[in-house]
Amino acid sequence: MKILLLGRDGQLGTDLNEILLCELVPQGVELSSYGFEDLDISNFERLQEVINDEKPDLIINAAAYTAVDKAESEPELVALVNAEAPAVMAKAAAAVNAGIIHYSTDYVFDGSASRPYTEEDQTSPESVYGRTKLDGENAVLTNCNNALVLRTSWVYSMHGQNFLRTMLRLAAERDELKVVGDQVGSPTTTRALADATLKLVQYFILNGEFSDPVSGVYHMTCGGQASWCDFARAIIAASEYSDTRVLDITTADYPTAAKRPAYSVLSNNKLYDTFGIRLPDWETALDQCMQKID
Ligand SMILES: NC(=O)c1ccc[n+]([C@@H]2O[C@H](COP(=O)([O-])OP(=O)(O)OC[C@H]3O[C@@H](n4cnc5c(N)ncnc54)[C@H](OP(=O)(O)O)[C@@H]3O)[C@@H](O)[C@H]2O)c1
Repeated sequence: MKILLLGRDGQLGTDLNEILLCELVPQGVELSSYGFEDLDISNFERLQEVINDEKPDLIINAAAYTAVDKAESEPELVALVNAEAPAVMAKAAAAVNAGIIHYSTDYVFDGSASRPYTEEDQTSPESVYGRTKLDGENAVLTNCNNALVLRTSWVYSMHGQNFLRTMLRLAAERDELKVVGDQVGSPTTTRALADATLKLVQYFILNGEFSDPVSGVYHMTCGGQASWCDFARAIIAASEYSDTRVLDITTADYPTAAKRPAYSVLSNNKLYDTFGIRLPDWETALDQCMQKID
């Protein structure tokens, strides 16, 4: 059994690499991991060559263009990385008989719902990032029938660039933070995502595939919901800067290049019903993450 991990040095890739090394490699699973400097997935010839040479049983793709606002000004590059590369990857995977785990986003929805989105709900992305990620989902599922697309949201960890690290940095400099309170979602740690992905990999090892009826899209986020302001307050309360005030502002007060969904809570029932996997609530996952912050 051989796993090819792409995007090894990103937030999620870092935790995936660590958990696969700790949990599966000692059991004889072979792991080949590539960061951006080893493989630019928008170099399609090289991407194909790596997959053909490695001949993995399973590809885990954590590589993506994730700078949501910057994406609005370079849509061609974003499409290459988030949509066209996954298509090439999925075709190459099918050619060597490999399965794929690919990640996507809550930003495929427009945020007009008032109850958690299911996998059956109509997508309607309103940003370049969301549109290209949706194209990537479709490309993976069209070109490889042995594939899981995992939509997650508000991803953070104790390493890398993310909302938690930004709040802690700002709290070290200021007495007061202003944070958007009218966007609601589910903050999700890379640790919770990596733990859940490990269970899916173990399913793959047992069953040899993700083919019908399990192949398809799944929502995978921590439980519960919060606004960015709720999330910031919980981060600050658990930090050494607990005296810092967090003020609630509106989306209109904090204009950004990319439009974000006002509500993007995802229902995780399909993941639980199919695989028996449930991620922790976001507050529990935050507590676990704060214990590891460097
Ligand atoms: N972050 C979120 O809030 C969030 C929310 C929902 C879904 N997701 C999805 O979750 C997955 C993991 O996200 P993440 O937060 O771990 O993102 P991340 O930290 O930005 O990691 C993505 C990795 O891909 C690399 N990359 C970018 N362009 C590449 C290319 N052309 N070839 C190879 N590698 C390339 C990045 O390198 P550089 O850092 O050097 O660019 C980075 O190491 C992605 O599919 C993302 O769309 C993320």
